[in-house]
Amino acid sequence: MKKFYIKKYHKNEKKKIFVTGALGFIGVHWCKKLLENGHEVYGLDIKSVNLELKKYKKFHYFKYSVFNTKIVKKLIIKTDVTCHFAGIASPKEYLINTSKVIDLTVLPSLKIINYCKKFNKKLLFTSTSEIYGKSEKIPFKEEDDRMLGSTSTKRWCYSTAKALVEHAIFAKLKETNSSFVIFRLFNVYGPLLKGRVVDNFIEKALTNKKILIFGKGNQTRCFLYVDDCMDIFYQVLQKNVKGKILNIGNNKETSIETLAKKIVKLTKSKSKILVQSVEKNSKMKKEGYEDIRRRVPSLRLIKKTVKYKPKISIEEGLKKFIKSVQK
Ligand SMILES: NC(=O)c1ccc[n+]([C@@H]2O[C@H](COP(=O)([O-])OP(=O)(O)OC[C@H]3O[C@@H](n4cnc5c(N)ncnc54)[C@H](O)[C@@H]3O)[C@@H](O)[C@H]2O)c1
Repeated sequence: MKKFYIKKYHKNEKKKIFVTGALGFIGVHWCKKLLENGHEVYGLDIKSVNLELKKYKKFHYFKYSVFNTKIVKKLIIKTDVTCHFAGIASPKEYLINTSKVIDLTVLPSLKIINYCKKFNKKLLFTSTSEIYGKSEKIPFKEEDDRMLGSTSTKRWCYSTAKALVEHAIFAKLKETNSSFVIFRLFNVYGPLLKGRVVDNFIEKALTNKKILIFGKGNQTRCFLYVDDCMDIFYQVLQKNVKGKILNIGNNKETSIETLAKKIVKLTKSKSKILVQSVEKNSKMKKEGYEDIRRRVPSLRLIKKTVKYKPKISIEEGLKKFIKSVQK
C-alpha cells in the first residue's frame, strides 16, 4: 500500500490549503489571509462564490457539500493542510434544526478525520467555547471538565456534537501522532458575521428596532475581533503547532447589556434596549433555551504557543463591523 508522509515545510514555504465552509464568516477571512500571504487555497462551500475571493488567482472554488465524500477526499489528497470549518454556528439553529446541527457537525468530520489519518495530512478544526457548557470554573482551561445539561434539552446538541468530533480527533489522530490543532473559538466577530448576537444588535440598531436581550442582561461574553483571530490562526499554521486544543479568544468580559448600549451609541440609534427573562418567553422556554452566565477563556496555552496580543479593542472592532454593514 502506498504510504503518505507529512511533508516538512520551511516556515515561509507556500502551501496548498483546503478550507471547508470557505464562504462562511471565518472561512472568507481565513482564505483571504492565506491568499494574501501567497498560499494556494481550495475552498469548498454550498454557497455561490464570493466575488472578493474570486479575484485571487490562487483561489479555487468548489461549490459542493462537505457530505460529498468523493470531492472532499480528492481535495484532502491534493492539499497539504485541511481546515475543516463548515458547520452551523448560530444558536437559534441548535433549537430549531437540532438534527441538522448534529449531522453536519459529526458525519463529514468523521470522514475528514479518517482521510487525514489515511493520507497523513494536517487537520485544523474549529470547535467552540460551548464545549465547556455551563461550567462556572472561570476562566475555562482546555483540559477542564465540561458541564452540560440533559440530552433532552436541545441546546446542548452543538456542544456535544463538537465534543464528539474532538474525541474522534484524539482517538484517531493523536494516537497515530498525526498532526492536528483544535481551535475552541470564543465569540469571534466582525464583517460577514451572521446569526450571532453582535450582528443581530447592529442590524436592529441601524434600523432603529428594539433590541431584545434574553436573561438578565448581565451575562458576559469575551469578544475577539476577526483580524486578531486570523493572526493567531496564521501563527499556529506557520509555527507548525501539533496535537493541541487551543482556546481562541479575548479575556476581556463585556456584558450583553453593555454590548447593546455600545452599539446603540456608536450607531447613534434610537433603538430601545429591552431585557426579557427567559421564563417570560414561552417559546424559548419550551425550546429549552438556557443561557450561560460567563464564558471566559484561559489564555495560558495560547500565550505559550504563539505571540498573543489582540490589537483591536471592542469599540474599534464594533466601529469597523458597523461600517462594513452600512456599506
Ligand atoms: N464565529 C465564532 O465565534 C465561532 C464560535 C465557535 C465556533 N465556531 C465554528 O467556526 C466554524 C465557522 O463558523 P462561522 O462563524 O464562520 O459560521 P458561518 O455560518 O458563517 O460559516 C459556516 C459555513 O459552512 C457552510 N456550510 C454549511 N453546510 C455546509 C455543507 N453541507 N457543505 C459545505 N459547507 C457548508 C455555510 O454555507 C457557511 O458558509 C464553524 O465550525 C463553527 O462551529 C465559530
